[in-house]
Amino acid sequence: MLGDFIVTHVARRKIPKLLKFEYPKGSVFHKEKKRTPILMYIHVPFCEELCPYCSFHRFPFDKDLAKRYFYALRKEIFLYRDLGFKFDGVYVGGGTPTILIDELIETLNLTKKNFQIREISVETNPNHLNEKNLKLLLEVGVKRLSIGVQSFDDAILKSVERYHKYGSGEEIKEKIMAINGMFHTVNIDMIFNFPHQTVKSIENDLNIIRTIGVNQVTFYPLMISSYTRSKLEKKLGRVDFKRERKFYEIILRELEKDFFPATAWCFSKDEGMIDEYVVNYDEYAGLGCGSIGYVDGYAYANTFNISQYILKVEDGEIPISGIRHYKLRERVRYDFLMKLFGLKLDLDELDRKYGISSRKFLFLEIMLFTALGALRIKGSKLSLTRNGLYYWVIMMREFFTAVNNFRDFLRGF
Ligand SMILES: C[S@@+](CC[C@H](N)C(=O)[O-])C[C@H]1O[C@@H](n2cnc3c(N)ncnc32)[C@H](O)[C@@H]1O
Ligand code: SF4
Repeated sequence: MLGDFIVTHVARRKIPKLLKFEYPKGSVFHKEKKRTPILMYIHVPFCEELCPYCSFHRFPFDKDLAKRYFYALRKEIFLYRDLGFKFDGVYVGGGTPTILIDELIETLNLTKKNFQIREISVETNPNHLNEKNLKLLLEVGVKRLSIGVQSFDDAILKSVERYHKYGSGEEIKEKIMAINGMFHTVNIDMIFNFPHQTVKSIENDLNIIRTIGVNQVTFYPLMISSYTRSKLEKKLGRVDFKRERKFYEIILRELEKDFFPATAWCFSKDEGMIDEYVVNYDEYAGLGCGSIGYVDGYAYANTFNISQYILKVEDGEIPISGIRHYKLRERVRYDFLMKLFGLKLDLDELDRKYGISSRKFLFLEIMLFTALGALRIKGSKLSLTRNGLYYWVIMMREFFTAVNNFRDFLRGF
């Protein structure tokens, strides 16, 4: 479709510009600033084995290194506390956060002791859904547990090298059904548009999802960074973005029967903490090796090198290696992208937040997406149409691809 082409083209030109970081000069955060609570994102970059399609920041698990890493993480939490930061939510992503469960629990207990934490979300994999881990996660107050599934189709699980690690589709399904009702929110992460994935396979996944009792599903479009493309295509085959819309429409059609879209690719049964903390929280601090934060109009990235991360934190330094100060126009555009990813944006609220006329700042964006049939406008409130939902899948796919490209670049691929 012409609209898909235009949105992809605009997103590929504009979004990577948001991630042109510089080396920080001097300290970034001011101790004197009065702070309101924000989200703490913690990254745990270890996995037992690495999946070939994944370009998140992760390393093969090494127990001694991981222990030193968690110790450094706790020091970094103290650094933020001493700078006067306040947090009311914690999101632990990975990698595999539950890889050393006792270390994770100690770290979460530390955040609870030092801040008024309202909600905790933790990512995990199906092989970690055992009695001990579940008990500890519940005791520490995890509200949302997010489990990486990707697909229930054994042929796909084998091709993405997860079958031998996490079990067959049937085994994963049983593990998920066994935790039914334990947590406020159980989310499963799925991926669509793998090469060789068929409509029949997706429809089968959707039937399973509708019967296993989870109350949230995040359905990511397969994203590839330019640096990992050739490795991924050698293992999985060529990715055809032209199939993406069709898959998405099937997902939307089926999931809408039991879920409502909370973002363009996250479907929930009720209000809850979603994967996209970028939507729910205006600001978030990024802790851990390779994590990205957005605070005081600065987007910043911690160092991607684990040894350097540990050394810097032990020296009492927030280990930031790249930073970008967003000008007012860029901040407003960032909000336009993220809020509408969460389906709605109130222009009057933006005016109050930034002391501007957002209608003037966003004139071109609003014109373009209205002409493409993506936006519904009611007074000051913008919301996404059904067509707009898919355009935001494209935009966010390009946003995360740009993040992945940036990560690969800094890791020196
Ligand atoms: C980065 S992982 C971390 C949690 C856990 N290790 C796992 O595998 O689920 C979180 C989710 O990101 C999604 N993901 C990873 N790589 C992706 C890619 N290249 N494209 C789309 N989604 C991806 C997967 O759905 C995965 O479950
Ligand atoms: S998808 Fe999850 S388990 Fe696989 S490499 Fe990425 S972070 Fe690790």
